[in-house]
Amino acid sequence: MKLKVLSLFPGIMEGFFESSIMAKAVERGLVSYTLTDIRDYATDKHHKCDDLVYGGGAGMLMLPGPLSAALEAAGSPGARTVYVTPGGRLFNQAYAAELAREPELVILCGRYEGVDQRIIDKYVSDEISIGDYVLSSGEVAAMVLVDAVYRLVPGVIRGESLDEESFTDGLLEYPQYTRPAVYDNMKVPDVLVSGHHANIVKWRMKKRLEKTLLYRPDLLQGKGLEGELRAMILELIGQGGEA
Ligand code: ADE
Repeated sequence: MKLKVLSLFPGIMEGFFESSIMAKAVERGLVSYTLTDIRDYATDKHHKCDDLVYGGGAGMLMLPGPLSAALEAAGSPGARTVYVTPGGRLFNQAYAAELAREPELVILCGRYEGVDQRIIDKYVSDEISIGDYVLSSGEVAAMVLVDAVYRLVPGVIRGESLDEESFTDGLLEYPQYTRPAVYDNMKVPDVLVSGHHANIVKWRMKKRLEKTLLYRPDLLQGKGLEGELRAMILELIGQGGEA
């Protein structure tokens, strides 16, 4: 997958692209990336990239000129082009999986009050928000998006690590433990050291349901849980007798 990220502050993202799993994915040729400084495409002597908003209002907008020059130079006609903005469609795991199937992603990071609408109309295929809060830095949102997407590119992470993650099948992940078996007087649950595989699977599913009910009941809505899962849910919400 090719990633082309355009920003006024590309330095914010360098460490992210040069470290850990991303660095390995790049080294193995699974991912390639470019970080473009939009300011390099400003044509006036002060390298101006923002201006006041027509119609009035607080803050500055990113100018269309440098943005379109930078996007044209990225040279990806037809490539999926994402603008990260709190005003976009809400990002989630399914959306990340969809983007991970693209051979190339162009990602535009906003600053200030955002970008001129004509840039969005002309170049952007996806306006994406990473959550219902406002960041001062589109670069942070772009890193969140890239991180969720590139790790789903085949070969970057082992498949079985992905299978049981939170959201992959619409439930949150079960709690996990490592050595020591007793830490600060807290024991690893007996079932996990019992060696009884079927009981471990059942315990983990129950914990996933419990956590999802507690923190994200919205994920269970319309899921049509049946059989053992339904019985577990009813037990968890104290209606075991009616299962
Ligand atoms: N830029 C600022 N806030 C953002 C958000 N919540 N999502 C995406 N981009 C952003």
